[in-house]
Formats: sequence, C-alpha cells, structure tokens
Amino acid sequence: MVGPILVFDSGVGGLSVANSLRQHYPDAAMCYACDNAWLPYGLRDDEALAERIVAVCQAAVDACQASVLVVACNTASTLALEGLRQTLSIPVIGTVPAIKPAALISQTRHIGLLATTATVNRPYTQSLVDDFASDCRVSKIAADALVTEAEAWLAGATLSEARLNQALLPLWQAMRATPALDTVVLGCTHFPLLKPVLASLAPISVQWVDSGDAIARRVGQVANILASGSSDGRCYTTAAADPLVDGFAQYGFQAPQRLILSGSEAVVYGAGRP
Ligand code: DGL
Repeated sequence: MVGPILVFDSGVGGLSVANSLRQHYPDAAMCYACDNAWLPYGLRDDEALAERIVAVCQAAVDACQASVLVVACNTASTLALEGLRQTLSIPVIGTVPAIKPAALISQTRHIGLLATTATVNRPYTQSLVDDFASDCRVSKIAADALVTEAEAWLAGATLSEARLNQALLPLWQAMRATPALDTVVLGCTHFPLLKPVLASLAPISVQWVDSGDAIARRVGQVANILASGSSDGRCYTTAAADPLVDGFAQYGFQAPQRLILSGSEAVVYGAGRP
C-alpha cells in the first residue's frame, strides 16, 4: 500500500519540515497532524508525553493511511521514536538537532543549540554533542517562548521583537563570547519558521542550521513517494485550530479536521489534562 507522507508535530513547527519535503518532492501526497491540545511539548512530563505521542501518531496514521511518518519535532523524537517504531508498521523518520552538520561547518568551534527545555536537557542531545561536537563549545539555550511566538505568528499575530529579544538574550550573549559563536542549530522545528526574523535581530551574522533537508533526503531513501491521493493535503489537530486555517493553507494543507483518539486513549488523556 502506498499512502501519503504524514508530518507530525506538537503544533505548526512541522510546517517547516513539510516545506523542505515539498521542495524535494513537489508532487508528493502529504498530510499534517499536530497535537495542539498538548502544545507546547517542551515543558511536559516525559512519561505522559511519550505515551501521548504514540497514541496521537497512531490515530493520525490510521486516519490518512500514511505510508511513512515524519516526526517533525525534536522534542517528540528525542523521547518517543523507539515507542513509535515498536507500535507502527510503517517507517518512522525522526528529527534530531542538527549538531553534526553544525560541527562540520563551524570555524570558531563554538556552536549554539536553540531548542525547547526538554530537548536541551535530554541525554539524547548530550550524546549527539559527545559523538559529533566533542571539540566544540556548545552553548545550549532553551527558548520555549519562541514556540508560542511562532504559533501566534502563523495565526496572524504580529511578532514582538521585545519578547523575541528577551528569549534570545542568552544566545546574543554567546555570540559575543570568546571564541564567538558562529553557528546556531535550530533544534526545534518551530524556529526555522522565524529564521528571517532571528537573523535580522542577531547582533552578528551567523550560520543557522536546521534538519529539514536531511529529513527530506531520508524520507526519499526509505519510502515510496505517492504522487497524489485522496487524502493529500489533509490536516488533523487534537484541539480547535480556527485561527490557523490560513496559515495551514499557505503550506498547502486543508482546513484542519479534529483527530479522534480511540476510546480508551480519549479517556486516559481527556481527564485532568491541562
Ligand atoms: N516543534 C517542536 C520541536 O521541534 C517543539 C515545540 C513544543 O515545545 O511543543 O521540538
């Protein structure tokens, strides 16, 4: 069976990955799913989140009969890839912070990792640093506020430079350190959506690296890309997303449909959840 590529994130961040996929495979059938009921993932408890991610992805894969799942979320991938691969019968491609490519191009050997609190603190992230950037200074900076900014921006709000600068102050300071930081890993898929703004606010010019291209190449290696299909362009959310309809449309996705989790999961996740 050949179904669409399903791109999953907590919110709109995966649209940056969907964009890279469209550049590589302009005719590919693609669907999008996001767990906006639990957004942001970056500040949640690991155990509950790991179970939740599997439940939502399973429901979305079933809904669109996907042939490959792209977990377009660093926070989810550094936690739940193993569980997803055990549960789903289709290939699952994850997103990990692009520390390896950043270490390959940094001249000053000082790299910044801009990500969610969860990704910054995960052992998986530290193992990437140990394996691929052990000769670099790596400034890890949690910037969860950028997730909220990107979400609001895609829903039509104006970006607040003051709020962005406040969240990014530790990064701006690292850029002025010795040796100066010259490469920034955008370790959250929401952040490439803001890249032009981040570049315009930064006190110096640096290289911004994300995982979009690498993910797109990997999808081509493991999946048959379907040129079209009846589910192409479908978009699933776990909570209302009316203000995002135009934002999803800009990326080629239809007005979102509500994703229904199976009975027991709905009970588990519906009760007592913020
Ligand atoms: N877009 C997600 C990532 O790449 C995280 C956003 C969130 O905290 O929910 O990590």
